[in-house]
Amino acid sequence: MIKRLVDAWVRQRFDVDKMRGPVEKQLKKPLPHNVGWFHTLGSMSLFLFLSQVVTGILLLVYYRPTVNEAFESVKFIMTKPYMGWLYRQVHAWGANLMVIVVFLHMLRTYITGSYKKPREVTWIFGVFLFIFTMIFGFTGYLLPWNQLAYWATTVGTEVAGSVPIVGEWIRTLMRGGPSVGSETLSRFFVIHVIILPWLLVLLVLIHLFLVRLQGVATMERVDEEKEVDKAHGTPFFPTHVLKEGIVFYILLGILITLAILAPFDLGEKADPLTTPHAIKPEWYFLPFYQVLKYFPKLAGIFVVTLAPIFLFLWPFLDRNKERDPRKRPFAVGFCILVLLSLFIFGVVGYLSETERQLFGKTYYFDVYGLPHAGTAAEHMAKLTDAEVK
Ligand code: HEM
Repeated sequence: MIKRLVDAWVRQRFDVDKMRGPVEKQLKKPLPHNVGWFHTLGSMSLFLFLSQVVTGILLLVYYRPTVNEAFESVKFIMTKPYMGWLYRQVHAWGANLMVIVVFLHMLRTYITGSYKKPREVTWIFGVFLFIFTMIFGFTGYLLPWNQLAYWATTVGTEVAGSVPIVGEWIRTLMRGGPSVGSETLSRFFVIHVIILPWLLVLLVLIHLFLVRLQGVATMERVDEEKEVDKAHGTPFFPTHVLKEGIVFYILLGILITLAILAPFDLGEKADPLTTPHAIKPEWYFLPFYQVLKYFPKLAGIFVVTLAPIFLFLWPFLDRNKERDPRKRPFAVGFCILVLLSLFIFGVVGYLSETERQLFGKTYYFDVYGLPHAGTAAEHMAKLTDAEVK
């Protein structure tokens, strides 16, 4: 049936046979033997991005980007339209999973030394993709216009404001005024639904073009890398494509399960006059936010902005020609140290300014994450006493 349709209609209009060659060449391109399940993390990132685009378009049907209507419109989406609750939850969970998966993909390319010559530019485009994925999350977080989002954005834009010289300008540019308000919502909306999606599409296309052009990295030394031939490689189609299909299916299952079993609460509508206790950014900014607390303002900003600069420059700083992680103890050790620090500062940030029950006792974790026996109120009272003395 399809063959007859192609013969009768398509073939008379387009030179299908001429296209077949290049398409088949790409599909049959052999991948190195080291390509396994971890190499599906890149396409998993792409899958999540596409899922965000689809669910984002569905959300746009009813979402209203104004201070008076945003919260109510999200509430409406969650209760009235067919499956509205599902696509809102899949979008919210998708944003979080995308940060995790893109990060894991970056980690995979780091551990296998894939960022080394000649793939430094692929890595640099990747770092842009990672940063824009985080900004995607930051701008999207404000859109439901709830208390949590409003105050997290106030804090986030305040941090940007402490950058020397240009900080004030950046903060006003982000907020569209002295405080977070209707101008901020409009700006974040435009960035979130127009600028970032198209920018990401462009960057992903360049990133994938580079991956295809240079081929997936082998585990050989930089100066010994040879082109993979058919006899020694794994075919992209069907072997790798099948793996990708399986992980897409599992990801979709995870997204829907999380949407059903752990839905995100909308909370209360934003109230600029009521500051909640302990305002915190989203979990993926939490380690950086916590680090900022330990340094004087300027030094903190300097430390935190070093991280992305370091990521961009890493392929040029690492002069070791080996790709095998067992032969790169410094790079791997450094990576473990960074991961541990992110985890520790993240946990401390999560615990900070909360009251917890540990081994049958109540502890209050102060703003620096230090535990104090007793409740928050008792701690505050002690502080006031000390201050009085
Ligand atoms: C939306 C985000 C991203 C998408 C959709 C994406 C997609 C992909 C895909 C499909 C591949 C080929 C298969 C694979 O190795 O997994 C790939 C390879 C690669 N990606 Fe990404 N990527 C993203 C972000 C990043 C980030 C954040 C980095 C690092 C900073 C990065 C660095 C690389 C490198 C170096 C390769 C070559 C891997 C090799 O040759 O072994 N990518 N990417």
